[in-house]
Amino acid sequence: MTEEKKFGSTVLRLDCVSSTNDVAKDFAASGATEGLCVIAKEQTAGRGRQGRTWSSPAGEGLYMSVVLRPEINPSASGIITLASAIAVAETLRLDYEIDAEIKWPNDVMVRGRKICGILIESAVQDDRLDYIVLGIGVNTGQRGFPEEVTSTATSVWLEARRSISPEEFAEALLPRVERWYVASLEHSAEIISRWEELSPSSQSCQVRVDASDGHIDGITRGLTPKGALIVELANGERREIVVGDVRVRSLTA
Ligand code: BTN
Repeated sequence: MTEEKKFGSTVLRLDCVSSTNDVAKDFAASGATEGLCVIAKEQTAGRGRQGRTWSSPAGEGLYMSVVLRPEINPSASGIITLASAIAVAETLRLDYEIDAEIKWPNDVMVRGRKICGILIESAVQDDRLDYIVLGIGVNTGQRGFPEEVTSTATSVWLEARRSISPEEFAEALLPRVERWYVASLEHSAEIISRWEELSPSSQSCQVRVDASDGHIDGITRGLTPKGALIVELANGERREIVVGDVRVRSLTA
């Protein structure tokens, strides 16, 4: 069983890095133990899923990466992404009274605006998972966003009118990341049910899923036991989405 309370026992606090995921990967490749955490005040090349950038201005967000060494099949790592989104959503809800929800697979949203993104990157050797770097970006301090993202991004400050430091948010978040990570390895059914509770758009919601080979429209029907999103097409066929971007269109009956 994974030992509790090792996340955050070693935290590297840095001023400015390209990406905390890169720094954590270097440490992981040199043998860093599970739970090592890298936090930077600023990233010059913060990155997101599907080749996107993650805006990382100094002091306005939490930019954090954690080294994980789960003994699982590389193809099963998606459940850890779901677990991390639960940890962030619960921290926002329980510690900051912000009505955070999860949008598949791992965007944490408030009033339809994104407040946190999660990027998991894995190193695999001979079909074996060597390590995972779990990167979490949370908008904490922004008092506004550039016009092109004002309707799609938000921050802790904008939602709760509370000035909190990224470091303070990390302290509240890390024990939950550890708790849900351990659960993802031992009780994945618990992850699926908690994730679904925190994700109203995963049930009976009209969505468009953008994938590399085009898009599909349909109605969400929850998750598979491995965390794929089930989308029902107009002809009743059910597709299991493993990779893609979901755009919520409306809630249906
Ligand atoms: C996404 O929503 O596309 C994922 C964004 C992940 C951003 C975090 S910030 C800390 C870590 N370092 C990075 O370069 N990316 C992740």
